Amino acid sequence: MLLHGVIEFLQKIRAGLGSTDRSTRVQKLRITAVVLIVFALLVKYVVAPKTTKFAVRRKIALKPGWQMRGIWAKFPFAMIDHCYLFNVTNPEGVVNGEKPVVKEVDPFVYEKWHEKTNLRDHEEDDTVSYTAKYTYYYDKKRSGSLTGDEEIIFPNLFALILIEIVARTDPTMMPLISNLFNDSANKNGESQCVTEDF
Ligand SMILES: *[C@@H]1O[C@H](CO)[C@@H](O)[C@H](O)[C@H]1NC(C)=O
Ligand SMILES: *[C@@H]1O[C@H](CO)[C@@H](O)[C@H](O)[C@H]1NC(C)=O
Repeated sequence: MLLHGVIEFLQKIRAGLGSTDRSTRVQKLRITAVVLIVFALLVKYVVAPKTTKFAVRRKIALKPGWQMRGIWAKFPFAMIDHCYLFNVTNPEGVVNGEKPVVKEVDPFVYEKWHEKTNLRDHEEDDTVSYTAKYTYYYDKKRSGSLTGDEEIIFPNLFALILIEIVARTDPTMMPLISNLFNDSANKNGESQCVTEDF
């Protein structure tokens, strides 16, 4: 509609330009220039911002059914997570009071997929709540020589923290704690260290 009006107007001006009267021709030219400038300003400051704003909103809003919603709820790419572990190589020695000797085991690489489930929209405050769900897949190719079936021995953090607390608060209790772990070590074959299959 608007475009049609403008074309019609320009046609009238052209007809006017054919006029032999010089002063009306100049005047009509002036009017054309003003109208074109107004039209350009209108497009630049009123029409364009509204349409782009709407287009951008459609792209970034999280409303159900809108473009961003799907990507946001189920991210289409996997993150790559590297997991570095330190293997205690002298577990028997640690049980007998040696300092643990650790060896870094090269990265176990996992693909991490992120998904949001239980999406609930709250109209009243314009928010969405969800439950985050991460799924990890072992990436054999990226993990190099590691198969994911290695046996890694690492310190039992619970035991270490307990020992640390006792040593700080009441060092006279240490022999008791030491015996406790020595007993359980002899019984179960594990104490300050736990064995974990990956
Ligand atoms: C970790 O250490 C234990 C004990 O020394 C050993 O049996 C095991 O093979 C080691 N694991 C790796 C991946 O090197
Ligand atoms: C741990 O127990 C063993 C066998 O019972 C014993 O020979 C050893 O001296 C004990 N070690 C400590 C630090 O108490």
